[in-house]
Amino acid sequence: MSLNHFYKKDIVSINDFSRDDLNRIFKYTDNFKLLDHSIKGELGKGRTLGYLFYEPSTRTRMSFESAMASLGGSSIGIVDSKISSIEKGESLADTIRIMDMYSDVIVLRHPFDGSSKFAAELAENPIINAGSGSEEHPTQAMLDLYTIFKEKGNIDGLVIGIVGDLKYGRTVYSLLYGLAKYDVNVYLISPPSLAIRKESVYEIEKNLKLKEYNYLYDDVLKKLDILYVTRIQKERFPDIQEYEKVKGTYKVDSSVLEKSKIDISIMHPLPRVDEIDYRIDETKNAIYFKQARYGKELRATLLTLILNENPFNEE
Ligand code: CP
Repeated sequence: MSLNHFYKKDIVSINDFSRDDLNRIFKYTDNFKLLDHSIKGELGKGRTLGYLFYEPSTRTRMSFESAMASLGGSSIGIVDSKISSIEKGESLADTIRIMDMYSDVIVLRHPFDGSSKFAAELAENPIINAGSGSEEHPTQAMLDLYTIFKEKGNIDGLVIGIVGDLKYGRTVYSLLYGLAKYDVNVYLISPPSLAIRKESVYEIEKNLKLKEYNYLYDDVLKKLDILYVTRIQKERFPDIQEYEKVKGTYKVDSSVLEKSKIDISIMHPLPRVDEIDYRIDETKNAIYFKQARYGKELRATLLTLILNENPFNEE
């Protein structure tokens, strides 16, 4: 058996990774950052990352592409279905089959829940879920947890608030599944119409202390070590009038910071629209751009682990 059990492994759900796996990925990411450029540049040499983005992306696609380039590999892919044969009616299954022939690892973002699981069953090469409907975005959660770990030195014992669109935000679900492996208290803050989907957290409620609120109350703010802010996912509302009712519900600004712990960390998977005031960017509490930077490093580490049997020369 391979020492590196991430070798050739799909990343479909963060639920497929144990707490030990996650902690190991964080350690490997720290080790990866220390490697010389010339060593990094050998880890993906001659290998190809294939990406299929059926929904828009800035960070996920570019961080994977940039990560693959740093490993000496190359990337090919589809970001605009209108200039691919998807426009002619080609199915996801056939597109995956073809990409599987041309690449060593496939990064997939698709609007349907279950799309990555379906692709992983079809493809011989590993599939990385870069967002499946409102279901999951596991590598985002890994980088979120890594950011928390780097910022606070630990994940256990923290009090974490998650605010915004908890119904449709796929990063929220992957993050909650990841947090359920640690000993944390979680406050969920959303308008009633965007509350967490109970059926999606049923399993983890045994491990995770969840409390729900409709407002960022002062008493809640005072307790938080982390406030994870999310965008209201306009594109997922079946009725735009429902979106109009809740848009702009929460804004993290200086008045929120004044009521919070002095060292609260403000996170956001990005993109933001109007839910964090731009003036927060200049404060030491804003760590969302650091979070995006960690995304490239953690994804380069994941690619290294998936593509190489023993990249860190473990005995
Ligand atoms: N956080 C995230 O998934 O960003 P993108 O949609 O820009 O990839």
